[in-house]
Amino acid sequence: MQTVIVKASDGHCDVDGIKQAANILRSGGLVAFPTETVYGLGADGLNGQAVRKIFAAKGRPADNPLILHIFDLKQLEEIAAAVPDCAQRLIDKFWPGPLTLILPRGDRVPDAVTAGLDTVGVRMPDNDIALAFLAACKVPVAAPSANVSGRPSPTSALDVMDDLGGRVDCIIDGGKCSVGIESTVLDVTRPTPVVLRPGAATVEDIRSVVGEVAIDPCADGIDDCATSTPARSPGVKYRHYAPIAPLVLFEGDPKARLVELSRRIEKLVAEGKTVGVAVVSESLPYLPSGNGERLVVRDMGSALDPSRIAATLFSVLRAMDRDKVDIILVEGIHDTGVGFAVMNRLRRAAGGAVVRCS
Ligand code: TXA
Ligand code: MG
Repeated sequence: MQTVIVKASDGHCDVDGIKQAANILRSGGLVAFPTETVYGLGADGLNGQAVRKIFAAKGRPADNPLILHIFDLKQLEEIAAAVPDCAQRLIDKFWPGPLTLILPRGDRVPDAVTAGLDTVGVRMPDNDIALAFLAACKVPVAAPSANVSGRPSPTSALDVMDDLGGRVDCIIDGGKCSVGIESTVLDVTRPTPVVLRPGAATVEDIRSVVGEVAIDPCADGIDDCATSTPARSPGVKYRHYAPIAPLVLFEGDPKARLVELSRRIEKLVAEGKTVGVAVVSESLPYLPSGNGERLVVRDMGSALDPSRIAATLFSVLRAMDRDKVDIILVEGIHDTGVGFAVMNRLRRAAGGAVVRCS
């Protein structure tokens, strides 16, 4: 399959390109598009047959439901059976933005979208190109992240091309995603809203709007939710965000973390391994200098700015793949605010390979 690339960089919408992409989607095709979080792989959300193509292109398990993307609140009427009062307050505060709400499912939503659940995830992205595209599509657009299942989410059109080139009909190139990690997923169908996946809409921010908020035990990325069936959010039970090389995460006291990280770097380099290291800017001066090409160091950004770390996280992991390192060592950050979402992604990418330092 030939993948058409539509250029819409720098926030400018190429109107004809957007129309062309929307026509592809409306006739049952797959279109990858930028959002403020990560690139999505879109299909007509009311067309079950089109939606099933998403699962085939990504190699995604069929029991993992998709988010419907909308550009206008009126679209909620056709996809959600009800909008609870607390959901309305969250919509007023966070939309358009990186918050997905799990709502009671409307009749028109196909089973392929919800994986047969009686709920549906909905979000309005905060990205002009995404909104222009969704408006041109005129239908709710079902879209997971536009990566091969299990890989880090894509934050540029090149990332999408690397994973899905030749497997999707069209990619809208809208440059880099500003947020860089996927939306917060919040279930508002329960008496107390539950965070199923943390994101840039933080637990603290959500609490300030609705009061009490519960956090699903799988949301911190520590629990191995592969065994807890049924998981509330089916997606959390699969290994995720994983680069090609094994990833080891260093958590705990910042000083002890650096000592342990440095020790590991020296050992691995001495063994002849090519080591990828991702640390916060503040740690850069303290790392061993390594052995020329054996050590690839990437700066994730300041520990004081977790939003910036979120914005670079997946592109750093994908860069490590392009550098063909044998192993990736990553320094953890403080897990409050957006840092909680960053640590969720890193713990899951590490798949249990976490070194706790004290
Ligand atoms: O930022 C994002 O959310 C991106 C962009 C493209 O919008 N999308 C995204 O989709 O990350 P995906 O499919 O990679 O992750 C969606 C998550 C999965 O963990 C899935 O299980 C959960 O949301 N989810 C979707 N519908 C659900 C539902 N009805 N009940 C519980 N969890 C649901
Ligand atoms: Mg995903």
